[in-house]
Amino acid sequence: MEKVVRKSLVAANWKMNGSLAANSVWVEEFSAFKPVAGTDVVVFPPFVYIPTLKAKFADAQLNIGIGAQNCSAHDKGAYTGEISPDMLIDIGCDWVILGHSERRQMFGETDNSVAVKTANALKKGLRPIVCIGETEEQWSAGKSEEVVLSQLNAILDVVDVEEFADRGAIAYEPVWAIGTGKTATPEFAQAVHATLRDSVKSRNLEAADALRIIYGGSVKANNSEELFSRPDIDGGLIGGAGLKAKEFYAIVQSAKSLI
Ligand code: PGA
Repeated sequence: MEKVVRKSLVAANWKMNGSLAANSVWVEEFSAFKPVAGTDVVVFPPFVYIPTLKAKFADAQLNIGIGAQNCSAHDKGAYTGEISPDMLIDIGCDWVILGHSERRQMFGETDNSVAVKTANALKKGLRPIVCIGETEEQWSAGKSEEVVLSQLNAILDVVDVEEFADRGAIAYEPVWAIGTGKTATPEFAQAVHATLRDSVKSRNLEAADALRIIYGGSVKANNSEELFSRPDIDGGLIGGAGLKAKEFYAIVQSAKSLI
C-alpha cells in the first residue's frame, strides 16, 4: 500500500520526571545534534517546567514544541490542583496529552471525561494528543480493536472531526506495552492503526487522511524505524526513551525518513 504523506510527529512524555538541572542537561545534549526538520517534535514535561523549558528551547534555537500532560475540563474556578487550557495557552504551551492510560488507570479518567477535555482543549486552541489503548487482559482476549474503536469514537462523537485531524493526533498505546519493554510488533500496531483510520474514514475521508495516528509503548531507538515505516504509523509517543536526549534524537531521526 502506498503511504499517504503526513508530517511525522514524535513526542516525549516525560511523565513525573525531570528537574531544572536535568532539563538543562537534556537541552544541552539535544542541541549538540543537527537541527531537526520535517518532523513535529514536542516535549511534554511536568507543568511546572513548561515555561523554563520553553525558554531554553528558544535560547538553544531548538525547533521543539512544548505541551502539558493533562489539563482541566473547566475554564476556571474552585477546582483545587487543576490547570485550565487557557492557563496553558497563557504560558505559551501549544500541545496537551489527554487520556493517557496512567491517568485513566490511576486518576479515574473515563472515555467521557477525556472526550469532554478534548473538545474543550481544541475549542481553546490547544493541540491535543489523545491516548487510547487496550489493557493486557483485553489484548489477550483478542479485544484490542473493539476497545480502541470505542475509545476513539467517544472522542470523534464530540469534536469537529476535521479540526481534530488538522490540529490533534491519536496515540495508540497498548497498556501492556507501556514501560514494559514489550513493544507491539509493527504488523500488529499497523493493523490497529489501519482499523482506527478506517473508522475515521467512515465519518470523513479527508480527515482520515490528515489525522496523525502515532504509536506509543516501549518505543526505543532500535525499534522506532520499523514501526514508523508502516503506512498508518505517523510517529511515536515516547516515554522512557524520551528522557535520554541522545536516544530521543535517534528516534526523531528515524521518523524523518517518513517524508
Ligand atoms: P514508554 O511510555 O515509552 O516508557 O513505554 C510511553 C508512554 O507512556 O507514553
